Amino acid sequence: MQLHMENIYKSFRDKEVLKGISVRMENGVYGLLGPNGAGKTTMIRILADILQPSKGQVFINGQDKNTCGDDYRAKIGYLPQEMNFYPDFSGWDYLRYIAALKGIPAGEARVRIIELTNSVGLTGDLRRRCIHYSGGMKRRLGIAQALLNDPQILILDEPTAGLDPQERIKFRNIISAFSKDRIVLLSTHIVSDVDSIAREIMMMEYGVIKKPRTVN
Ligand SMILES: Nc1ncnc2c1ncn2[C@@H]1O[C@H](COP(=O)(O)OP(=O)(O)O)[C@@H](O)[C@H]1O
Ligand SMILES: [Mg+2]
Repeated sequence: MQLHMENIYKSFRDKEVLKGISVRMENGVYGLLGPNGAGKTTMIRILADILQPSKGQVFINGQDKNTCGDDYRAKIGYLPQEMNFYPDFSGWDYLRYIAALKGIPAGEARVRIIELTNSVGLTGDLRRRCIHYSGGMKRRLGIAQALLNDPQILILDEPTAGLDPQERIKFRNIISAFSKDRIVLLSTHIVSDVDSIAREIMMMEYGVIKKPRTVN
């Protein structure tokens, strides 16, 4: 799997937020590191196919994503920076709902939910209402929903925000395990979230990525 951004620009009205982003990613973990307002979420939303760039192209295995139709989104799992839950939903209800939105048949969804909740350590909590989950559990539920369609590209926007040190370690291990045969891109402003697991760290500032740093 190869994901490639070529000279991406994005402006909101007259404010230029991304100023010529070019990156190449292959399987493994990539850290997108930068202060608030740098443009991380904007870049991620372009990759998640929620925003269109003002200029530039995204290629998946060499093909322009805009010529891939639904095939592109089917390859992406996305955890947004903010997650919202219906107050009555249990973890199970939530995952069934997302699976339905992704068009996964019920039987298949059931098997997949059991598998994924086991790997993120939520099996015992599936029947509880997710508004009562801790911050860490919500994030792990978020990872599970992003992985429901078995995406080859996993994009996580500040997945460790608000987590305590123990949850951070748990999270790193989960991500590491999932990155073996996938591209995982995660944004953060905390270096220690990514420096032990990322193959590359991209430093973003004012809509520009400084020279990528290879870690491992
Ligand atoms: N929909 C939008 N309309 C106008 N400005 C936006 C919009 N989304 C983001 N921005 C601006 O773009 C800049 C980068 O934001 P963002 O991509 O969220 O950065 P980060 O995720 O690194 O904190 C900020 O100045 C923000 O205010
Ligand atoms: Mg952001």
